Order: sequence, then structure tokens, then C-alpha cells
Amino acid sequence: MSESIDNLRRLFEEDLAAIDGMESWKAVRDKYLARESGVITTELKKLRDLPKEARPAFGQAMNQLRALVEKKLQERLDEAKAAEASTKLQRIDVTRPGFPFALGSIHPIKRLQSEIEQIFVSMGFQIFNLPEIERDYYNFEGLNMPRNHPARDAQDTFYFDDSVLLRTHCSSVQVHAMEELKPPIRAISTGKVYRRDPFDATHSPMFYQVDVIVIEEGITMGDLKGMLDVFLKRMFHSDIRMRLRPGFFPFVEPGAEVDISCIFCSGKGCPTCKQSGWVEILGAGMVHPKVLRMSGIDDSRYSGFAWGMGIDRVAILKHGVDDIRLFFENDLRFLRQF
Ligand code: DAH
Repeated sequence: MSESIDNLRRLFEEDLAAIDGMESWKAVRDKYLARESGVITTELKKLRDLPKEARPAFGQAMNQLRALVEKKLQERLDEAKAAEASTKLQRIDVTRPGFPFALGSIHPIKRLQSEIEQIFVSMGFQIFNLPEIERDYYNFEGLNMPRNHPARDAQDTFYFDDSVLLRTHCSSVQVHAMEELKPPIRAISTGKVYRRDPFDATHSPMFYQVDVIVIEEGITMGDLKGMLDVFLKRMFHSDIRMRLRPGFFPFVEPGAEVDISCIFCSGKGCPTCKQSGWVEILGAGMVHPKVLRMSGIDDSRYSGFAWGMGIDRVAILKHGVDDIRLFFENDLRFLRQF
């Protein structure tokens, strides 16, 4: 009896050794372990014919054999899986050089925009994130530029319809801030503005601005000058000089054009400043009483100033770039220099 079991075991080991793939593995499994017709079940059926006292030993031996067969088959399967996984691994050539991974960086205009916002946040200003698609009222009417006002011509506008347009400046923050906040008001807005301008070295139909408004009791032109001086010194350098010339903007009275001493020649005269020693940098003024009233501010009690500046213009000056298009063409050879 034990001889026949030994025999079976040898046969199984031969079969096991001959396995050479999933098909033959399954065939061996079924040959020995199939429920009805497997070798082990068939053998166990012989139990009935054995004398009673021989049955327990035979049963036990057959169970051991079944356990062995199951274990060996499982081992064989695990080995095959491991081998397959390792051949897959070998197909990855770990010595191959990696793919170049280009690091991005912040665009120079964006960087300047956050720098400007930072300066104002440190002075207690509130930042307004305003829509680029704006109502005519916030861009023009509320700023004392009613329909057909000649000053609108200077800002040739992209209109969607009669009352909706792409904002032509960030000065819309003045109306929004005065409508939403109660004095004292200190607000700025930065972002893209759009005009029907050509795309050449000094113009772009889309560019960046910042606009600032302060409304409080007793604000004077002196406060405007003081703040501009602090801001421009932080933006450029500490020995920058500035001057105000009379200028006209419908939403301020008086209005001023502000120049800084040329940062290239320190005011001595060079091609950038056209030998004048000064470069125009921003527009400013005291908020027009009509503008205050339209936004519900009591102009007998409060006064304020506003100013607006092109961020690209500052970038051009700071980095000595002679063509505004470079900032918007996404040429990496240019952008990598920042
Ligand atoms: N919004 C004007 C422009 O885009 C610039 C400007 C001038 C803004 C005077 C102001 C200001 O806030 O007071 O040309």
C-alpha cells in the first residue's frame, strides 16, 4: 500500500518537473486534484475495499500526499510568476539617461505685479480682483466719461455690446471700491487691460496696469506726492527723483502726469529719456468731486487721490527691454533671462 503511494508521489514529481508553462501546470493540477476524476480522489475511493484496520493509515497517507501535491503546485506557480515579473523588470534599462525636466519660473510681469501688490498690502491696502470684462459704467461713466466724451477716444475700446467691454484701464477699481467700502478707503487693483492698439515695439492690445485709490478726510495732493515718493523709491531705487506735471484725466481734478528721473542716466540725458533726463511713468490726481458723488461718497467731507501705472512699462524700464512684444511672445530664450 505505502509502495503504491510512493509510486504515485514519484509520478507526480516527474509530472511536476515536466511542467513548462501555464497549460501543462493546469493539466498536472487537474490530473491529481480534480474533484471527480483526479488521481487522488480515485485512489481514495479504494479505501472502501481495504480491511478496516488499514483504512486510517491509508487515509492519512493520501491526505499527506494531497497536501504535498497542493503545496508543490503552488510553489511552482509562485516561481513562474516571479520569473515573469523579473523578465519584465529587466526590460527597463535603469542605466538610460533620464528625460530632461524643464523647470518653470514666474513670468517677469507677474513677478512685478505681485511685488507691487506686496508693497501695498504692507501699507494696509485692500486688493480688488476685478473682471477684465467690465460694464461701461465702471470703466467710463462712473469715472466722469459719459458716452461721446472725447476722452474715450484715447482709449480705443473693444466692446461686446453697448454696455459691456474689455476694460481699458484698472481705474474701474475706483468706482468699485467707493461703492463697496466706506471711507477710509485704501484699495488697489492690478491686471490685464485691453485697447485697440497695434502690436509693435511700444504698443500691445493687451497690457498690465495697477490703479490705486485712497479716500479719507483731509487727503491732499501732498499725501499723493508722499505716497508716490515712497512707492517709486521701493519700486526703482532710493535716489530716484520724481516730478509732477499738469495732466488731464476726466476722473481727477487736478490731474498730473508723473515723471521719474531716468534710471539709465540718472537724469543726465540718454536715448531712453530722449536726452530730457525724465521718463513718464504714471498718471495721477485728486479724485474728481463728481466721481466721489456718483459713487455715493460725501464730497464735502471726504477727498482722495488716485493714480494708475503700466506694469509692463515699469518692467521695460527696470530690465532695459526695448520691445514690449518680448513679454508676450513666450520665447523661452527671452524668459529664461529672468
Ligand atoms: N487710467 C489712466 C490710463 O489708463 C491712468 C490714470 C491717470 C489713472 C490718472 C489714475 C489717474 O488713477 O488718477 O491712462
